[in-house]
Amino acid sequence: MAPSNTQVRLAQRPVGLPDDSTWEITTEPAPEPGPGEFTVQVGYLSLDPAMRGWLDDVRSYVPPVQIGEVMRAHAVGRVVESRHEGFAVGQLVSGMFGACEYAVSDGTGAMAVDESVAPPAAWLGALGFPGMTAYFGLIDVGKIVAGDTVLISGAAGAVGSVAGQIAKSRGCRVIGIAGGPEKCAWLTEELGFDAAIDYRAGSFGRALHEAAPKGIDVYFDNVGGDILNSALAVLRRNARVVICGAISGYNATEPPPGPSRYLSLLINRATMAGFIIFDYADRYPEAMAALSGAVRDGSLVAREQVEAGGVADFGRTLNMLFDGRNTGKLVLKIADL
Ligand SMILES: NC(=O)c1ccc[n+]([C@@H]2O[C@H](COP(=O)([O-])OP(=O)(O)OC[C@H]3O[C@@H](n4cnc5c(N)ncnc54)[C@H](OP(=O)(O)O)[C@@H]3O)[C@@H](O)[C@H]2O)c1
Repeated sequence: MAPSNTQVRLAQRPVGLPDDSTWEITTEPAPEPGPGEFTVQVGYLSLDPAMRGWLDDVRSYVPPVQIGEVMRAHAVGRVVESRHEGFAVGQLVSGMFGACEYAVSDGTGAMAVDESVAPPAAWLGALGFPGMTAYFGLIDVGKIVAGDTVLISGAAGAVGSVAGQIAKSRGCRVIGIAGGPEKCAWLTEELGFDAAIDYRAGSFGRALHEAAPKGIDVYFDNVGGDILNSALAVLRRNARVVICGAISGYNATEPPPGPSRYLSLLINRATMAGFIIFDYADRYPEAMAALSGAVRDGSLVAREQVEAGGVADFGRTLNMLFDGRNTGKLVLKIADL
């Protein structure tokens, strides 16, 4: 008999922060793979700020999750049944399997997970989309060069912590912005950031001027809002502002105000560009080779915060991102694999 499969579905679109009414928990028999498909038992679910955007019925870079649909989520799982030549029973894989205990996949977007490099959860963080986002965002969009002063917000999170380490490894001076003294201490003492600013401590503008008295060449923005505005005020000539995300506004019920300091782009002949990691699909192998090589040789610290629970804990775990209760990549472990 097929095992039961508990799933998290979108019950209704949230206004502001998602809550219990956003989600519906359903249980049905685990799916059977058809020809060319495999069934995976999900062990680790990725929690991503972008998920909040996927719940809104607006035009974006991916279609919104529909009401009644299983929530879209990246995950790591083990193949438990296979009718796919490329994926064997017992193999660990990552893919967009959704917030559920069992999923069927035709292999699209699925990748082998090599536990000899790093534990499964790392393949959702430094060795997954967050790591690749940091890599392409800094190198391709930010065009970092040795000697640049690089400012990174959300620096103690999944993307930011990798971005800072990549910038350091390429000879940049790196300043991180994070919430709270513990996160800031982790950045400077363990990850090698040159400075860290606790944006919750007050006097943010002054702290920024002290940390970057000559201004910044690259701003890698994960948060938007007031922090983006302050960063625009300290740009150097030919600076690059990389719009990776803007989590401070993801639960806003009104459009957040635009950055009033944008004329700094003109004065400093600077650029501001957004990007989406999915556009780099043909270069994922390049990023994965660099990131896994760095994890393997110990030059890149991959940190995950693995919460234990059932798949039904998905919603409450997701909300941890919005009040900064994670350091490194936030993952929900729902099964021993
Ligand atoms: N462009 C792309 O293709 C792409 C791909 C992946 C991710 N992203 C974006 O990258 C950003 C980081 O994602 P992640 O997965 O690495 O998440 P994360 O940084 O691990 O977690 C989110 C962090 O955001 C911070 N935060 C929450 N509310 C904030 C606020 N109001 N102001 C300032 N900081 C706030 C919190 O840290 P503190 O305690 O420091 O506040 C929290 O830990 C997000 O904006 C995400 O949408 C973009």
